Amino acid sequence: MKVLSIQKATKIYGSSVQVKAVDQLSLEVNEGEFIAIMGASGSGKSTLLNLISGILPLTSGDIFIRGKSILGMTEEESAIFRRDELGFVFQDYNLIDTLTIGENIMLPLMFTGKDVKTMQEEAKDYAKKLGIGDLIGHRIYEVSGGQAQRASIARALIHHPRLLLADEPTGNLDSASAQEVMRQFVRCNEEEQVSTLMVTHDAKTASYCKRVVFIKDGKVFNEIYREGKQLQFYDEILNVLKFMGGE
Ligand SMILES: Nc1ncnc2c1ncn2[C@@H]1O[C@H](COP(=O)(O)OP(=O)(O)OP(=O)(O)O)[C@@H](O)[C@H]1O
Ligand SMILES: [Mg+2]
Repeated sequence: MKVLSIQKATKIYGSSVQVKAVDQLSLEVNEGEFIAIMGASGSGKSTLLNLISGILPLTSGDIFIRGKSILGMTEEESAIFRRDELGFVFQDYNLIDTLTIGENIMLPLMFTGKDVKTMQEEAKDYAKKLGIGDLIGHRIYEVSGGQAQRASIARALIHHPRLLLADEPTGNLDSASAQEVMRQFVRCNEEEQVSTLMVTHDAKTASYCKRVVFIKDGKVFNEIYREGKQLQFYDEILNVLKFMGGE
């Protein structure tokens, strides 16, 4: 089954002055895929993620997540659906400063009815998997950006979402931290079959993925699949970006 099926999704912002941010965009994502979405600033990438997550209503078209349409869900259903099926990673981590790394990772389990000890154990396991096991007692301001981002990936994955959505997850990171974070995304995708959709400006970051979808003016402009080595894919990505920019 497709984990995600976007069918002619359109999003128009505003009433007097209208901006067509996403324009009849269709995209199919198979279970276990790892996809980067690239495109110029303002091309509609974040809007697309917000449509998928149901945070923004579609103007027209439809989106199916594991065969279930997000149309016609009430706000409450949509919130529960987001909570159960989706994981989110943001550029600025969205962690809670007053909580420890371990408590932040544990947050999505709070509504599951599990006892505190179990939740703590699971949070610890995930922190270990992401290489931040000895930081669970630290607060956010006591860790690096790369470590904070790995905590936010652990938080996004701890409730085993069907689809992981990430918007510029390496945008605030230096290149070494970005690489470490990307290796973690790859590991989660390969070992836990987490289907991932990641927006990025950075060709290096995108080269870790298996498919890159290029968006221009709210439409799919092109897409390429990784067949050979990462470095070769990186060159291919740069070529498409050059071609898009040069049009
Ligand atoms: N709330 C809003 N109201 C009106 N227009 C908006 C709103 N949010 C975004 N837009 C417009 O929609 C278009 C797409 O924006 P979006 O944020 O999806 O782009 P993006 O590809 O994520 O860009 P970036 O790479 O800069 O993050 C832009 O023209 C933007 O100005
Ligand atoms: Mg954006």
